[in-house]
Amino acid sequence: MKSTENNLSEIKIYNETDFKGLKKAGSLAARTLEYLEQFIKVGARTDLIDQKANEYLNEHKAYSAPLYYRGFPKSVCTSINHVVCHGIPGDKILKDGDIVNVDITAVLEGYYGDTSKTYCVGKVSVKAEKLVNVTRESMMEGIKILKPGITLGDIGYAIQNYAEANGFSVVRDFCGHGIGTSFHEEPNIMHYGKKGEGIKIKKGMVFTIEPMINSGDFDTKVLADGWTAVTRDKSLSAQFEHTIGITDNGYEIFTL
Ligand code: MF3
Ligand code: CO
Ligand code: CO
Repeated sequence: MKSTENNLSEIKIYNETDFKGLKKAGSLAARTLEYLEQFIKVGARTDLIDQKANEYLNEHKAYSAPLYYRGFPKSVCTSINHVVCHGIPGDKILKDGDIVNVDITAVLEGYYGDTSKTYCVGKVSVKAEKLVNVTRESMMEGIKILKPGITLGDIGYAIQNYAEANGFSVVRDFCGHGIGTSFHEEPNIMHYGKKGEGIKIKKGMVFTIEPMINSGDFDTKVLADGWTAVTRDKSLSAQFEHTIGITDNGYEIFTL
């Protein structure tokens, strides 16, 4: 989502019952991504991926959160190559060497599960493959330190440090977000930052970590459709996302 300020008083704390519901929704979102893999290949239209995702969610008593969200016209986001996020599925055809992020948010029994992966289509360049791997790893750097008492700055630092050490940049204009019984809740989760800065995280908080990492500069712009965010320098961009809950002494990834 778009980066803005955090409002501390509005961060929700979820209980054990909520965690069960969030795990069901998260796991369905993850299974939807897995199911879609067969359609993510050379020659496929991105709106086929969208249609299959919507059908799969509906067959599992769930629905897509993005569909009609603030006017978004489709059920998933498909972001190809220099598209950073919020790409709109359409008649665009995947070609050999593309990288494409598919982002799913499932709503099941009132709970939201938000996850995305970047896929390599056919044979991609060495650089694209490295970007995809480093992006996945940078997300995991941010996740593996999670426990009550660390700060949002610690998360951002871990991700940024890893991405930049590998020669890539971290997008500033979009961030992770609280999530649970609605799509975008407090707090915003920046994917860059300084150790020790920002609020401390607590047991029962639920949020996404979804770094967008660029092979060039981090600047982005949104195209005339009002949604598609691209890198200004046309460099490649990759993203991975999980929805995570904070536990007594660590975390639980709901979107596995
Ligand atoms: N799933 C995206 C996220 O991770 C949000 C998509 S909103 C949409 O926050 F409207 F673009 F679909
Ligand atoms: Co998200
Ligand atoms: Co998402």
